[in-house]
Amino acid sequence: MSIKKMGNIAQNPFYDTIDRSRNIQDNPMNAASSFQEQDFPQILRGTIPERALFTKGTGAYGTFTVTNDITQFTNANLFSSVGKICRCFARFSDFTSEKGSADTNRDSRGFALKFYTEDGIWDLVGSNSPVFFIKEPAKFPEFVRTQQRSPITNLKSTTEMWNFCCANPETLHHLLMYFSGRGTPKGFRHLNGYGSHTYSMINAENERVWVKYHIKTNQGIKNLVPTQAAQLKSTNPDFAQEDFINALQNGDFPIWTLYIQVMTEDQAKNFRWNPFDVTKVWFHDEFPLIEVGEIELNEIPSDYQSNVEEVAFSPANFVQGLGLSPDPILQARIATYGEAQQHRLGRHANLLEVNRCPFSPEKDKSEKNDQTARNFSEFDKEDAFPESFYSENEDDHFTQPGLFYTKALQDYDRIELVRNIIESINEISGLDREEIINRQICHFFRANIELGMKIAMGLQINIDANMMNHAGS
Ligand code: HEM
Repeated sequence: MSIKKMGNIAQNPFYDTIDRSRNIQDNPMNAASSFQEQDFPQILRGTIPERALFTKGTGAYGTFTVTNDITQFTNANLFSSVGKICRCFARFSDFTSEKGSADTNRDSRGFALKFYTEDGIWDLVGSNSPVFFIKEPAKFPEFVRTQQRSPITNLKSTTEMWNFCCANPETLHHLLMYFSGRGTPKGFRHLNGYGSHTYSMINAENERVWVKYHIKTNQGIKNLVPTQAAQLKSTNPDFAQEDFINALQNGDFPIWTLYIQVMTEDQAKNFRWNPFDVTKVWFHDEFPLIEVGEIELNEIPSDYQSNVEEVAFSPANFVQGLGLSPDPILQARIATYGEAQQHRLGRHANLLEVNRCPFSPEKDKSEKNDQTARNFSEFDKEDAFPESFYSENEDDHFTQPGLFYTKALQDYDRIELVRNIIESINEISGLDREEIINRQICHFFRANIELGMKIAMGLQINIDANMMNHAGS
């Protein structure tokens, strides 16, 4: 109960338990009048529908400061000069966790940023993974269902998740990251964010490059080992949220450095993989990180409900000099977030304080729509359709996961990864158990023989020569 309500109670005899019973007995109408005066509506209707995904989260305001000149790539005013500062808002979240669930569950983490630029709102709605599970929007509903509670049993099912993954090998790259230490980050301050998709930038000469965004934590990456994650699950389910808020309250403001990777249009045509495939990364030695600026989060919103709950991020919000790409998942996101937010927040979602750009409060929405329309028509041009970037390696779902296992992980991480996968696969139940496991093991082998072998041994599966023949590397 809030201090304000205590005040109301003290001032109004009807709300005192003893007085109320006396008053109601004296005059039954008092009971009704007390309801009118009380702030019941705020209690009963004070919350809005939850987000369908990324439900549990925390957020803060902060500043973005340009530290490097990237005007050769973009004429976005936000990046126009070194030292320029822009207000921003960040929301961190757990992907499949529900409001009351533990922050240390194995899960992807949402990392969404809103920049209040002089040209309108720019949202970078990413996660702590540079890749996503799928690359075709049509698979999204089925994929999400495997992460949520069963409509029949109301239970979550590890079997459903593996059933989906074994039938869709493009999930393997994200899956390896998910089962590594990155699946249990130590709160929100010690993780990196990624735009994940390929986006574009357009400069003053109207030249376009493709870009990927990386948001690297200056606090250093820290992950929890499974035993720590499990212990915190029972002792402090709000661990990540508490860690974040405590740091800000103590003036220990977390900072992230924003980088871009840049690919020219010509490089895109010759890239080994489809440059718009969100299940793939661009290697850093080929496409080095270019520093852009620093994000410091330093202000806890004055009201959680009207800021963190009501904030509406959408990849459809971008400004002049920044653009989209033909990535089908990105295109699907542009079409879906607005509808979800109208349901969640009402038709005025873009006019809510946290979603409005202070520089163009009246015009903001229509400007955004114009900009989106311009980008869609840009992709109507024949050379910009995804088909033109179709790669002969479209079905190579294994090379990059194999390199993640051998190059990105240390010895200890590899041991942990294998252990986490075995533990989860052991939970698969039902008649299809054997088939699901065999199909999935095959994917691990095709990524890396050692990885496949270790998981198979851990599951006490005998590997026959047939399976080895499928192994690519
Ligand atoms: C076809 C693919 C996808 C669809 C249809 C989709 C749809 C949605 C929807 C409907 C919401 C709730 C929006 C709201 O109520 O405000 C949401 C939230 C979110 N999505 Fe996606 N999503 C997709 C893929 C992705 C990917 C690939 C990422 C990360 C790179 C991502 C990151 C997020 C984040 C971080 C949020 C929460 C934003 C917040 O903090 O409010 N989504 N998504």
